[in-house]
Amino acid sequence: MSPPLSIGLALVAGLGLTTAQPTIAKRDASSYQQNAVCAADQLMRYYQTDNTGLWGKDLWWQSGNFLSSLATLTSLDSDYLAQHGDVFVNTFQTATGYGPSPHFINGFYDDEGWWGNAFLDVYDVTGNQTYLQAAIIIYQDIVGGLGTPCGGIWWDKAQSYVAAISNGLYIELAAGLAARTGPDQSPGYLSRAEEGWNWFFDVGIVDGNYLVYDGVNKTDSCKPVGLQFTYNQGVILGAAAELYKATGNETYLEQGALLANASTAAGSPVTTDQGILHDYCDLSGDCDGTIAMFKGAYMRGLRKLQLASPHDNWKDFITTNAQSIWNNDLDIEDNSGTSECNLGTDWTGPYTTANVVTQGAALDALIAALAVTQ
Ligand SMILES: *[C@@H]1O[C@H](CO)[C@@H](O)[C@H](O)[C@H]1NC(C)=O
Ligand SMILES: *[C@@H]1O[C@H](CO)[C@@H](O)[C@H](O)[C@H]1NC(C)=O
Ligand SMILES: *[C@@H]1O[C@H](CO)[C@@H](O)[C@H](O)[C@H]1NC(C)=O
Ligand SMILES: *[C@@H]1O[C@H](CO)[C@@H](O)[C@H](O)[C@H]1NC(C)=O
Repeated sequence: MSPPLSIGLALVAGLGLTTAQPTIAKRDASSYQQNAVCAADQLMRYYQTDNTGLWGKDLWWQSGNFLSSLATLTSLDSDYLAQHGDVFVNTFQTATGYGPSPHFINGFYDDEGWWGNAFLDVYDVTGNQTYLQAAIIIYQDIVGGLGTPCGGIWWDKAQSYVAAISNGLYIELAAGLAARTGPDQSPGYLSRAEEGWNWFFDVGIVDGNYLVYDGVNKTDSCKPVGLQFTYNQGVILGAAAELYKATGNETYLEQGALLANASTAAGSPVTTDQGILHDYCDLSGDCDGTIAMFKGAYMRGLRKLQLASPHDNWKDFITTNAQSIWNNDLDIEDNSGTSECNLGTDWTGPYTTANVVTQGAALDALIAALAVTQ
């Protein structure tokens, strides 16, 4: 055992001081709360560095993912909410003014979906209707993307591709709105979500082994195309959980369980033989700032499904991954008496380097472990 490192005061740009954290032992991989807080503190050191309301200067959709993570962590840890609750107002007000994306709307339906779902997470933790309204405005724009030759919604407004990710996020958002709105609005969202869910299972994007392809080919009989990335498997699990929440219909949990069992199985296309989640680029060690985000989104979806329908095999998967990150893919730097927990991209390790995206993705795994063991 290495001696415990103490977490001191950390100055977080624009947000004041965090209070002293309890000591943290690098090798205590199952202290999920401490580990998630240390990882989140490090994520926050990338926030507002350029006054764009984002993490990093212009990490647009990834910042939607980070906002979701922060909202979930603060829902699990009221001290963290008290210290960092400003991040919601600040991101909402500042990021909209950044670049060409008023109301978090741009040319990509998946980008919009990340933000829409993030604002539902923020709404859940704050109860502030402004965030629910923001999610509705985003949803209304996404619905404009329906009507591809293969059904479902487009990936982009240029109508270049039909992707699993934009559809998964859309179904999750529609179902999430159905679960959070009154009887005057809820049925409309729900029928869209159900329609989207049925499309997802009918179009061929889910293969016979319950693994999800990246998309379908609009010019070649809507055949499945692309790789089976982690986030394609994970976001749809969050959609299943939201559909169940909105309807009480267990069919969504059963279909979600088939998908979750397939992707969490050791040796699946997204899981190593040791049970660690990975994308193809982890094998070659060259995940970029797009793909490095995907595993975090996977963990968010699996967490939601596990909370709706607990399974020991998924809980073990989540905790095994969180512990592997802490044991193998962590570097703790002492910066003037403050311990900074840096998390890399390959969750099997060894740690090489971290950046805001690898940090945010790994944080989702730690938060999932905290949530499913509480
Ligand atoms: C609700 O959120 C909006 C947007 O961030 C903010 O301007 C407003 O002050 C919040 N309202 C309350 C009551 O906190
Ligand atoms: C879709 O199919 C067309 C025609 O076979 C092919 O040229 C194109 O590369 C395919 N697109 C993708 C994304 O695989
Ligand atoms: C539950 O959902 C499935 C899939 O959409 C549907 O076929 C079934 O009719 C639903 N069951 C009930 C009781 O609504
Ligand atoms: C998922 O896997 C668990 C553990 O093996 C099993 O108990 C459960 O029945 C599986 N669910 C489905 C839908 O296959």
